[in-house]
Amino acid sequence: MKVQDKHIWLTGASMGIGEALARALDAQGARLILSARSADKLAVLRASLKHPQRHKIVPLDLSRAETLPDVVAQADLSDGLDMLINNGGISQRGPAAQTPLSVQRQVMEVNYFGTISLTQALLPALRQNQGMLVNIASVAGKVGGQGMSGYAASKHALIGYMDCLRAEETHHGVKVLNVCPGFVQTNISVNALTESGQPYGEVAKSIAEGISAADCAQQIILAIHKDKFEVVIGKGLSALAPYIKRWFPNFFFRLSARKNIR
Ligand SMILES: NC(=O)c1ccc[n+]([C@@H]2O[C@H](COP(=O)([O-])OP(=O)(O)OC[C@H]3O[C@@H](n4cnc5c(N)ncnc54)[C@H](OP(=O)(O)O)[C@@H]3O)[C@@H](O)[C@H]2O)c1
Repeated sequence: MKVQDKHIWLTGASMGIGEALARALDAQGARLILSARSADKLAVLRASLKHPQRHKIVPLDLSRAETLPDVVAQADLSDGLDMLINNGGISQRGPAAQTPLSVQRQVMEVNYFGTISLTQALLPALRQNQGMLVNIASVAGKVGGQGMSGYAASKHALIGYMDCLRAEETHHGVKVLNVCPGFVQTNISVNALTESGQPYGEVAKSIAEGISAADCAQQIILAIHKDKFEVVIGKGLSALAPYIKRWFPNFFFRLSARKNIR
């Protein structure tokens, strides 16, 4: 699907991959609804785009899934909606044995329940325009590794849900693309929840050595143009991991027990 003049709702637009997507989509002539919790950051972002007047801001909190149908009901969708990009999310870092249920639930609320709640509320609009649903999952939605049980579980759940939704919605004309990035240079590890419930607070080495958010955004838009169902984006082991697990599962399981790649 081409993005020019398309109406696109983008979550997690206030920083990182979402901000890079907003800049790239704006440059290609899309009309955006920018969402995240930080309304102030969204306002600064919109003002810095090439065509600020084309874009709207709708603040929302994905951790409050039950509020999202109302957010959608109050949004101005009079011009229709062609695409929802589910990008907003948080990560988690810490051993499964020490991570309390409260932290596991928090990650699940944002990455899974908030995301599917917003998706469900926007499906009628997407059906109307034979639109596209783009989900920024993760390589961690395809493979597991050390210190990311909550994050990997939430992204596996998201991919599972969206694969089912694709099977159901194809005959309504709605396309579903799952994007699985490896390491991307953003604040994802800084904001990741640790077992104490506090943010990790640091840029992890793996993230610092990842691809840039701008590069990731360009590859996501390429996958959108090509109407892909699923795409893995990244470099090094993080991008190869899904294929290694698929073709050499025993080797992959031994490797992930030996080596902490985060
Ligand atoms: N960076 C990577 O290596 C990587 C790899 C694979 C997948 N991903 C995925 O890419 C997506 C974007 O992450 P990023 O790397 O750009 O991280 P980031 O820099 O931390 O950005 C996360 C975005 O999500 C929003 N967000 C977080 N909690 C939210 C909530 N409760 N409600 C609404 N919005 C919320 C944040 O905005 P506010 O704080 O303003 O709400 C922010 O805009 C995530 O889904 C992440 O899992 C990232």
